[in-house]
Amino acid sequence: MINHEIVNNEYIVQIASEDHLRLADTICNEMEQSAKARGTGIAKRSPIYVMEKMLEGKAIVATTLAGAWVGFCYIETWEHGKFVANSGLIVHPDYRKSGIATQIKAKAFELSRTRFPNAKIIGLTTSEAVLKINSELGYLPVTFSKLPADDAFWKGCQTCVNYDILTRTNRKHCLCVGMLYDPEEHKKEEKPEKWNFLKESKLYGRWLKIKQRILLRFQERQRVRRDERELEAA
Ligand SMILES: CC(C)(COP(=O)(O)OP(=O)(O)OC[C@H]1O[C@@H](n2cnc3c(N)ncnc32)[C@H](O)[C@@H]1OP(=O)(O)O)[C@@H](O)C(=O)NCCC(=O)NCCS
Repeated sequence: MINHEIVNNEYIVQIASEDHLRLADTICNEMEQSAKARGTGIAKRSPIYVMEKMLEGKAIVATTLAGAWVGFCYIETWEHGKFVANSGLIVHPDYRKSGIATQIKAKAFELSRTRFPNAKIIGLTTSEAVLKINSELGYLPVTFSKLPADDAFWKGCQTCVNYDILTRTNRKHCLCVGMLYDPEEHKKEEKPEKWNFLKESKLYGRWLKIKQRILLRFQERQRVRRDERELEAA
């Protein structure tokens, strides 16, 4: 997996490392400000938690070429790696609507598939942009019963303003949509297609004609040389 992706010659989207620890405060502040501005729920994260994710190689960061923060997202696992969530997606307000979140999510998805190939990839979101991005990656909307039953997973919702809705409905409903990418469902698509003679027959036909032309030309030349030698000998 290639770590660096340079987008439009302007941004670098990559797996975060210790070089990015300096960005953790800014990221958490922006998460909080954005949640307030939207007036909807978002799970709070501490800078320490964000730093841990960076050091574990489980975070994706987007920066300008000069190193200023542009966007962020991280991956978490649940139920011993049965589920992976790509969480905490945030893009700096000045850089929104230029495809940064799409690039970050694509990288987080690639990282999740590489590190946890058998895990179901899940998400909980109220964001129209995220619904769109996830759908394009192959996630489908699911009922909450398909998400981890683990209390630790739902604990992340405690800091959301809508948490009481979730508890009142016994974790059956809330404002977020649950989404899931099941690798089993996609296995068929990922299998390399077998070589199909009928499908490739046109190509094969062209190759055969070229081969015939070359071989016949060679044969013809051999025949002319033979005739010339016979003439000389006569
Ligand atoms: C949600 C967020 C991450 C999107 O980031 P972004 O870089 O602007 O997203 P992109 O430019 O990659 O857009 C992806 C798609 O969503 C659409 N989109 C972006 N913002 C949108 C919005 N506010 N409403 C509806 N659609 C939106 C884009 O048009 C694009 O669609 P397209 O592929 O058909 O063109 C960003 O607005 C943000 O940080 N919001 C605050 C935090 C948040 O809500 N995080 C999500 C928590 S689950």
